[in-house]
Amino acid sequence: MTLEEFKKFDLEYTVCECFDITLGELLEAIKNGNDTLESLMDETDAGTACGLCRSVEEDEDGDRELHLDEILKFAKEN
Ligand code: FES
Repeated sequence: MTLEEFKKFDLEYTVCECFDITLGELLEAIKNGNDTLESLMDETDAGTACGLCRSVEEDEDGDRELHLDEILKFAKEN
């Protein structure tokens, strides 16, 4: 995914379906210092159930369009 593709996601987009966590909530948690995957998962619960939203590697069938590791990467680049 490119930065341009990432920017097309709305803040209301549900990244983690298991816990109904939006992109906006995740970006807020990252802004508040949860800038590692472990910390972000601890803080929001996102990624702690089925795990498909964690990374492209863990989502072999491409069930989720956006993953926590991509959000962390682009949040740091921005
Ligand atoms: S979609 Fe995030 S843990 Fe299942």
